[in-house]
Amino acid sequence: MSTSLKDYQQVRGLAIQSLFEIIEQSSEGTVIVDRDANIVWMNERYAKRFGLKSADEAIGQPCEQVIANSLLRQVVRNDQPILLDIQDTPKGPLVVMRLPIHNDAGAVIGAIGFALFDELRNLSPLIERYLSMQQELASTRSLLRSRQSKYTFAHFIGTSATSLEVKRRARRSASAESPVLLLGETGTGKELLAQAIHGASTRAHKAFVSINSAAIPHDLLEAEFFGTAPGAFTGADRKGRPGKLQIAQGGTLFLDEIGDMPLPLQSKLLRVLQEKEYEPVGSNEMRHSDVRVIAATSMDLEAAIKRGEFRADLYYRLNVLPIQVPPLRERLEDIPALSEAILEDLRSHHELDREALALLARHAWPGNIRELRNVLERAALLSDDRVLGAAEIRAAIGTFSPVAREAMETLEGETFEGETFAAARERFDRQLITAALKACGGNVVAAAQRLGLGRSTLYKKMVALGLAISQ
Ligand SMILES: Nc1ncnc2c1ncn2[C@@H]1O[C@H](COP(=O)(O)OP(=O)(O)OP(=O)(O)O)[C@@H](O)[C@H]1O
Ligand SMILES: [Mg+2]
Repeated sequence: MSTSLKDYQQVRGLAIQSLFEIIEQSSEGTVIVDRDANIVWMNERYAKRFGLKSADEAIGQPCEQVIANSLLRQVVRNDQPILLDIQDTPKGPLVVMRLPIHNDAGAVIGAIGFALFDELRNLSPLIERYLSMQQELASTRSLLRSRQSKYTFAHFIGTSATSLEVKRRARRSASAESPVLLLGETGTGKELLAQAIHGASTRAHKAFVSINSAAIPHDLLEAEFFGTAPGAFTGADRKGRPGKLQIAQGGTLFLDEIGDMPLPLQSKLLRVLQEKEYEPVGSNEMRHSDVRVIAATSMDLEAAIKRGEFRADLYYRLNVLPIQVPPLRERLEDIPALSEAILEDLRSHHELDREALALLARHAWPGNIRELRNVLERAALLSDDRVLGAAEIRAAIGTFSPVAREAMETLEGETFEGETFAAARERFDRQLITAALKACGGNVVAAAQRLGLGRSTLYKKMVALGLAISQ
C-alpha cells in the first residue's frame, strides 16, 4: 500500500515536471518572478523577444522593466491566476497564461508566466466563426421576435354573442394541435385570431409565419412554400433558400387565402399535413416538417370544391376546427367598443357622438373591421373637432351601403355633389370589385377573370381599397 502511495506521489511529481517542460519548450516564452515581482528566471526565447541578448540580463529586474504591461505583479499580489489573456509586445500580441507559485505551506512566493503562442492569426478563423455565429444568433433572435405574433385574444374586441362564441372556439383551439380553419369575409379579423391562437399555444415562443396564396404569383408559391435546394436555380437563388415551411418549423404556419392556392400545391400541402414530410424545390431530400397549420379564407370552399378548384380531401383535413368569423353587420352591437378600441389604437383623441355611432350602425361594412378602422382614421384626420359627428363619419365612409333593412332606400338620397374625380372613381372601383368578389364567392381568381383583370392586378387594387391586406 505504502509503496503504491509513494508511486502516486512520484507520478504526480513527474507530471508536474513534464507539464512544465512541455509548456516551457513549446511555448513562445516563460518567465518566473519572485514575491516582489522581480524576474528570477526567463528562457532565452522570451528574452530575445524583448530585445535582450541573453536571459541573464533580465534576472533581478522588476518584471515590468522587461515586459511592459506585465501583470505578474498583480498575480503575486492577488494570489489569483490569469488563465488566458492577450499580452501586447513590441513584436505583436501573445496569448499568455499567468499562475501564482506557492510554497509547501501554501504561501505565494512568486508567479510564472507562459506565452502560449503568438500565432493569433491561427486563432482568427475561430474567432471569426464565433463572431459570425454570434451575429447569426442575434439576427435570428430578432427575426424570431418579429415573427412572433403581435395580437392576443385581448385584441379581439367584441362582446356580442357571436363574438364571444368566436373567441371561445379560438381559445379552445389554441391548446390543440390539429389545423384550424378560419372562415369569414375580408377584414373580419381572421389574421388577428390566427396570431392570437398561436400566441396562446405551446408554440408561442416559436415563429408565426404567414403565406398568402392570393398575393404571391402562383409560379413562385411552391418555392416560397418549400424553399429551394442549392443549385436548383441560377442567379440569386443559387445557394438555395429556406421555405416558409422551414422557417415556421416548430411554430405555426398561417395559410392565408388558402382558397386561392393552386391545385398542384394543394396536393403537396395535403402530403405535408398527412406525412409531415416535404422536399424543397429541386431537391430529392425529404425533410421532416413540424408545423401547426392555421388556414384562412373568405372564399366559399365548398363551392370551390364543386367547381373543381379546391381538393375535397384537403378541405376535410383542414376543416377539423372550423371557426366562422361573422361579418361586422351581424354584430353591429360591437361597433361602439370596436370604435373606441380603434381610436385608442390610432392614438387619436377623438370620440364619437350619438349620431355618429348611429350612422356607423347603419352601414353594412363590406370591408368589415378593416373598413371601420379606415373610416375612423380618415374621419379623425379630417376633423379638428374632438367630437366626431355623423357628417364627418358620412364623409369618411365614401360609399355608404346601408344594412339590409335600409337597402330599399338605396343610394338615392346620396349626394355626390362636389365629389372629386378620384373619390368617384374609388367609389366605382369599390362597388365593382366588391360585387364581382361577391358573385364569385370571394374567389379572387374568378373575380379577376370576370373583370378581365390579372389576378395580381386585382389583388393590388383590393389592397389599395382596403379590401385585402398587402404582403
Ligand atoms: N374583433 C376585432 N377587434 C379589434 N380589431 C379587429 C377585430 N377584428 C379585426 N380587427 C382589425 O381589423 C383589421 C383586419 O383584421 P384581419 O387582418 O385580421 O382581417 P382578415 O379577416 O385577415 O382579412 P382578410 O381576409 O382581408 O385578410 C386589423 O387591423 C385588425 O386588427
Ligand atoms: Mg387576412
